[in-house]
Amino acid sequence: MAFVNEHYLKLSAGYLFPEIARRVSAFAAEKPQFASEIIRCGIGDVTEALPPSAVRAMQTANAELATRSTFRGYGPGMGYESVRGAIAHGDFRERGIDVADDEIFLSDGSKGDCGAILEILGAGNRIAVTDPVYPVYVDSNVMVGNTGTALAGGGYEGITYLPCTESNGFLADVPSELRGEGVAAPDVIYLCSPNNPTGTVMDRARAQAWVAYARKHRAIILWDAAYEAYNRDANAPKSIYEIEGARECAVEFRSFSKSGGFTGVRCGYTVMPKSLMAYTRAGEAVALHGLWTRRWNTRSNGVSYAVQRGAEALYTDEGRKEVQALVDFYMENARILRDGCIALGLQTWGGQNAPYVWAKTPEGHDSWGFFEHLLRNARVVTTPGAGFGRCGEGYFRISAFNSRANVEEVVRRLAATR
Ligand code: MLT
Repeated sequence: MAFVNEHYLKLSAGYLFPEIARRVSAFAAEKPQFASEIIRCGIGDVTEALPPSAVRAMQTANAELATRSTFRGYGPGMGYESVRGAIAHGDFRERGIDVADDEIFLSDGSKGDCGAILEILGAGNRIAVTDPVYPVYVDSNVMVGNTGTALAGGGYEGITYLPCTESNGFLADVPSELRGEGVAAPDVIYLCSPNNPTGTVMDRARAQAWVAYARKHRAIILWDAAYEAYNRDANAPKSIYEIEGARECAVEFRSFSKSGGFTGVRCGYTVMPKSLMAYTRAGEAVALHGLWTRRWNTRSNGVSYAVQRGAEALYTDEGRKEVQALVDFYMENARILRDGCIALGLQTWGGQNAPYVWAKTPEGHDSWGFFEHLLRNARVVTTPGAGFGRCGEGYFRISAFNSRANVEEVVRRLAATR
């Protein structure tokens, strides 16, 4: 008899984005006359073409594979040295941050890495996530058994939820400040900045407080910086390693999805510092770098050659300019959406250092109710805040990943249905 991983049975609902897609399809089937008018600002999926430098590099790589003398088979599981070097140099050392080439591990995107990291962390770690939260962090922990069952009002037993609300600017406070000393301290804390879904960025002082907390409790911060390219706030760290001591307590996840438009191409990376330790039950320190390397060697043969070359090309002078232009384009979309929401009198956050605008639903609407209202009356798909957690109830998210014409049309339709 084959047994099932029963932790999967605890998952309370479908994953948020397929659920949104299901509701949109149901609406389109019910009102086919409106189907072609629907504008999708729900999932944060890029719409614009890839940077030409990446396209050329991938074409060249594919041509190499077509010729015996330049053909390549298996590559190093963690990524080709030149690609890891370009990343470590371009994203870190050039900005004065100490990250070595062999601390970069390429993958098919940060979503997978946020869950895969749990393989090398022990069972029974107390996990903390923000509320609202990118659902992947929670569901991945449910799947490996780090939680109890689903709670009636949302969330899971055994997870520490860090409320992010209007009162703290939708930024996570360290638990000791929140509830006083003596509360069970989380061992693993997911932090996302620029934040998905609220679009807020964590300021340096707060990031320092988190690093101090993690070091004091020998905890690990899992810092998701997938939207780093959108952060223009000089007071908000683009990397957790800008904070002194973070190399001893943090893993960082990065993605090319939103910077290079790679949501379909698939490539991201994790930074695993050699100085980062976790502990055996007997209290012995173990370097996670060695375990993560071991995991990659066993589990994967890495990212496809052409994709790696495409990612590497984003670090050339031309590639960087193209990435900047792409990010600027989406950020102008975010500005238009944010200004549009503000003009309608909606309380609004984000959209200035992130491609997401987070807004309060108008009086009389809860999150899913307002989602349905906009879908039916404006034919605009947003993301209900409640889908990201209990503290997301009463808010909605609009993604700035769309064409300019669609974004402008969204603002017009929001005004018309207000
Ligand atoms: C989102 O819409 O939150 C993201 O696109 C999801 C993701 O990156 O996996």
